[in-house]
Amino acid sequence: MNRWIAVGFIATGVLVLAFGYLIVSEDERQATAAERQQTDDIAAAADVYAINCAACHGAAGEGIANTPSLATDPLRNADAETIHKTISRGLYGTVMAAWSVDEGGTLSNRQVDQLVTLIQHADWDDVANQVSALGYTPPEPETIEVDTAALDQIKALPNGTAIANGLEIYNRECSACHSTELAPPLDTPELRSRLSDAELARIINEGVPGTLMAGWQGALTAQEITDVVTFIRNYDQLSQAGVEMPTAPPPPEIEITPELIADGQKLYDILCTQCHGSIGQGTPLAPALNAQQFLADTPDAAIMQIIAGGVPDTIMPAWSGRLTEADILALTAFIRSWEPTAPPVAQ
Ligand code: HEC
Ligand code: HEC
Ligand code: HEC
Repeated sequence: MNRWIAVGFIATGVLVLAFGYLIVSEDERQATAAERQQTDDIAAAADVYAINCAACHGAAGEGIANTPSLATDPLRNADAETIHKTISRGLYGTVMAAWSVDEGGTLSNRQVDQLVTLIQHADWDDVANQVSALGYTPPEPETIEVDTAALDQIKALPNGTAIANGLEIYNRECSACHSTELAPPLDTPELRSRLSDAELARIINEGVPGTLMAGWQGALTAQEITDVVTFIRNYDQLSQAGVEMPTAPPPPEIEITPELIADGQKLYDILCTQCHGSIGQGTPLAPALNAQQFLADTPDAAIMQIIAGGVPDTIMPAWSGRLTEADILALTAFIRSWEPTAPPVAQ
């Protein structure tokens, strides 16, 4: 009998030990899983950061011009929920937009959470490397130098004071993007004929959701916005009046080679046909890309941006995390290669 009691004790002991071991190893397992989760979150967030935030906050979160650094101890030690709110809702009256889908932005709640994890736990050197690998390291801002003689000439034009004031605002607030490859140039006849003054003012006030173009209504006064519009509207008159205006560099041109097109076709066949059709003719799921209208209206930079960032709230995926910049370039070259033979409108 005693023997059986002893066996019982031993068996119980073994069970308790085994159970204890299981609990400990479960804790360890969870800790490792949490670590792995954090690494994955940071990797996913780095792609989102590269596309959406680096242009203002810098590739390594160092801050650019009057945009604050995100690589700070106060932020690392802040309450995660507070940072989540800042990113989701934006900072009213500043160019820091509301990013959450719930607030009209483009990022899911989960993506905002991942960004918070990045801000609080990432090594910013790794983030900078990822931003650079994706091709989103911000270019050096350029400002347009206008000497006093030219400024006097501008002021002598009809509406000259407004134009000169608008130029000054453009230099300070807009040239970092619009005189670099980050944004389309604003000094083109195409833009002037496409957009009325009211439309220009609306875009500048409200911004273009889901892009770097923030709304300026909080940061600039109504008068300042009117002056910038007057400046954009009269850009060509400046040169006609003999004012020498330095021109912004043209948007990047893709040098289309047969190899690039072939690379793009390979990717297109695998990734895009099921929605856009085998020759870009469109399907019930997605619009035609092989159409004169679309190709004429959409510059290469815009096609690249759509492929990289996707179209929010539609099934058009964002490819930037999955494709390199070279891949996106190749896809754009392939899509552009349809232009000479594209039907006038989608079929
Ligand atoms: C158009 C430029 C711009 C973009 C793009 C931008 N920000 Fe900001 N951000 C700002 C500015 C400007 C501020 C500071 C506003 C103020 O308080 O004056 C700011 C503030 C912040 C703050 C608060 C910093 C602090 O110290 O409290 C966080 C966090 C932040 N941004 C995160 C992000 C994230 C994440 C993204 C990308 C999803 C992003 N920002 C994109 C301009 C930008
Ligand atoms: C942080 C970068 C950035 C800054 C700063 C910026 N923009 Fe933009 N802007 C963009 C981008 C990117 C687009 C293109 C958005 C899109 O894809 O539709 C754009 C688009 C525009 C457009 C529409 C152009 C078109 O062809 O439809 C206007 C007008 C404009 N911006 C004016 C301004 C003005 C004025 C300022 C300064 C007060 C300014 N932007 C500052 C990035 C910026
Ligand atoms: C799951 C379906 C799906 C896949 C896969 C897909 N797209 Fe799309 N795409 C869409 C939808 C839907 C739209 C239209 C979004 C909208 O309503 O603006 C779109 C829009 C676009 C546009 C803008 C068209 C326009 O008229 O403004 C481009 C460019 C584009 N896709 C390129 C691509 C490329 C390149 C690939 C492959 C790497 C791809 N898409 C894969 C669904 C898809």
